[in-house]
Amino acid sequence: MTMKVLTVFGTRPEAIKMAPLVKKLKEERTIESVLCVTAQHREMLDQVLELFGLIPDYDLNIMKPNQSISMITANVLLGLEEVFQKEKPDIVLVHGDTTTTFAAALAAFYHQISIGHVEAGLRTYDKYSPYPEEMNRVMTGHLADLHFSPTKRNRENLLREGIKEERIFITGNTVIDALLEIADKPYQFEDKTLAGIDFEHKRVITVTCHRRENLGENMEHIFSAVRRIGDEFDDVEIIYPVHLNPKVRETAGRILAGADNIHLIEPLQYQPFVNLQAKSYLIITDSGGMQEEAPSLGKPVLVVRKETERPEAVEAGTVKLAGVEQEMIYEMTKELLTDQAAYSKMAHAANPYGDGHACERIIEILRNWKR
Ligand code: UD1
Ligand code: UDP
Repeated sequence: MTMKVLTVFGTRPEAIKMAPLVKKLKEERTIESVLCVTAQHREMLDQVLELFGLIPDYDLNIMKPNQSISMITANVLLGLEEVFQKEKPDIVLVHGDTTTTFAAALAAFYHQISIGHVEAGLRTYDKYSPYPEEMNRVMTGHLADLHFSPTKRNRENLLREGIKEERIFITGNTVIDALLEIADKPYQFEDKTLAGIDFEHKRVITVTCHRRENLGENMEHIFSAVRRIGDEFDDVEIIYPVHLNPKVRETAGRILAGADNIHLIEPLQYQPFVNLQAKSYLIITDSGGMQEEAPSLGKPVLVVRKETERPEAVEAGTVKLAGVEQEMIYEMTKELLTDQAAYSKMAHAANPYGDGHACERIIEILRNWKR
């Protein structure tokens, strides 16, 4: 009998991490795969759909400028009602920790549809950091029936919360599937700024920053540290593809614009962005996904957050927490630019997040799943 699997996602990182799974689900004879995007992100989601050649069956198109978390939640809940009634899926797959993730899981629960949670079991145990992601994943975890955990530690986190052992599967992270698919292809930068950078003679620092708990004061600290580094090191080029959140763009423009070696550019397609990470000297970010990609690429990452739910990357040695204070971020970046031994200690490839076969494992589990 065919099983109907409805995948729901809405933001850039979910799309990157679910694209290889949706593509593989389509190839399965015993599975009917339906894709619904909420479009919590619009342009940044469409970039990923285009790259992976995904055409959604449903598009809730909910994004509003400066949207609140409540608006996203309400619109996803209402929007999915009709989709669930029409499609009557056997299982809904959600990914990670965004508000689309939690609201889609809640909507599935209200319709008494089974839920599979991809990237399950990441925790900081701090309710407000990352905000609202920590509670989104806790709540999704308690609604889900199947938990696809990237690592052993993620599985242990779920066991401690009383999730049944037989429902948790260690699969690796699907981001590695996506990364390997894209990183293998030859690529030359089309973006004018990137094409003009002398990667051979300059040290490139890639920056991204967008987390809600960093908006405001923390972001001012982070960008001020980056600005000082740009001003002090003339062999450094700083590339920052700025997230489309208007609040991020305002702060970035105010603190970082106008320096010759700081390039504020539009969000990049995943393929140029992976190539940019691979050619960078180091990365400064508050992104979750980049903490998973960088170890594979062997690039040192300074995480501008107070905590991380990805301790495996810290243990692997490629990721360090730099906090959100200007002085500390500046000092830690400076150390990596001036102390070759400190840099070499971090710059090596490690693979705590999987082997690029997470999607195959998830599909195999779905095939054997007894409802
Ligand atoms: C969201 C997720 C966060 C995830 C991040 C990845 C929530 C609450 N937040 O945060 O978990 O890590 O995505 O990037 O689920 N915008 C655009 N075009 C886009 C995308 C965003 O214009 O393609 C602007 C809109 O004004 C939007 C704002 O950015 O209102 C914020 O988007 P939103 O999805 O609410 O929050 P993010 O900070 O992107
Ligand atoms: N990314 C991208 N283009 C960019 C910046 C990031 O494709 O300009 C990718 C990055 O490689 C990673 C994902 O987007 O896979 C991270 O997304 P984001 O920072 O929006 O969310 P988070 O990882 O914090 O959830």
